[in-house]
Amino acid sequence: LIVPLIVCGGSGTRLWPASRASRPKQFLPLFGDLSTFQETVRRVSDVSLFGRPVIVTNQDHRFLVADQLLAVGIEADILLEPEARDSGPAIAAGTAYIVQRNGAETPVLSLAADHRVRDVEGFRAACVAARHGAEMNAIVTFGVAPDHPATGYGYIEVGEPLTEGVLHVQRFVEKPDAETATRYVREGYLWNSGNFLYQAGKFLSEYAEREPRTVEAVKEAVAKAKVDLGFIRLDAAAFGHADKRSVDYAVMEKTKVAAVVPASFDWSDVGSWSAVRELSPQDEAGNARLGEGVFVNARNNLVSTERPVVCVVGLDDLAVIATGDAVLVARRDDAAGIKALVEKLKQKH
Ligand code: GDD
Ligand code: MG
Repeated sequence: LIVPLIVCGGSGTRLWPASRASRPKQFLPLFGDLSTFQETVRRVSDVSLFGRPVIVTNQDHRFLVADQLLAVGIEADILLEPEARDSGPAIAAGTAYIVQRNGAETPVLSLAADHRVRDVEGFRAACVAARHGAEMNAIVTFGVAPDHPATGYGYIEVGEPLTEGVLHVQRFVEKPDAETATRYVREGYLWNSGNFLYQAGKFLSEYAEREPRTVEAVKEAVAKAKVDLGFIRLDAAAFGHADKRSVDYAVMEKTKVAAVVPASFDWSDVGSWSAVRELSPQDEAGNARLGEGVFVNARNNLVSTERPVVCVVGLDDLAVIATGDAVLVARRDDAAGIKALVEKLKQKH
């Protein structure tokens, strides 16, 4: 069985004010009843293909994670980080835990918690193909055909075939500048979806080749972990020696054994309010409403509101987001602006 490893420690600032430090975007029921975290665990709940999942999250979110798992009736081992050190140490710690629990040969599917995939069958088929790659000692990612030169993604230059449905990665470049991204899109690179399938021991040895200290640190944090109210607390002193780096910079840009399954399933990382609009039902004028929104002579807007009725008259291309304590009015594609806004608010308060 493939063991799912779900890392959910990101902060999701580009979806402010719905996404907050206390409740980051992966835990928000943006599109109805379930959060993307819950959709992610559900996507890997078929016990004929997937084993008991492992979740790695910040200790501050432990009850949120436990409640959301309970609500979808899925059991998991929950590892708690004492502090955020980015996705590299989180994934490495989860993988070291799986080595201890299931053995070094175990195929691991490392998943981000903030993605939306509706074609679950297509996703499963991609996992089965990726497992073949992992059996050949590759670290397999899932590639997505880009539709614009986004600078917030990793880019993959695809190489020769490795096995059925799996290709070698010629080159992996994390978050290139706009000019480079434009060239990559033209040259047929794929986006890295941020999900990986690999054999547990192989991943750790590839990581350790470049960052032995970090891998030692997470192994020790797992070995000295303590069970507390059913949660598994990583040892804080040991985990503190892990270098803060994302898995993309720590492993994917450097390893020679990266491979890619071009995804046939739909994929979005719900990275902006604009993406939320695109993933939501829209009226004839392109307006999407989550909660009560009324539009007159207005096009291509998104309204998301927890309570007050939000009305937009004579304006286009806006995101208007109302929560209990804040209102955001922004151009719907200005994700960078919202990031800057959140920084500014941090200095103020
Ligand atoms: N537990 C834990 N602790 N999880 C973390 C931490 C951490 O310190 N930091 C990030 N994560 C989780 C996030 O919650 C998310 O599920 C995943 O790791 C990816 O982190 P992001 O912070 O969302 O990364 P990104 O969006 O900038 O870039 C990644 O995803 C893109 C696709 O969405 C990269 O993999 C890119 O190459 C990729 O294109
Ligand atoms: Mg992300």
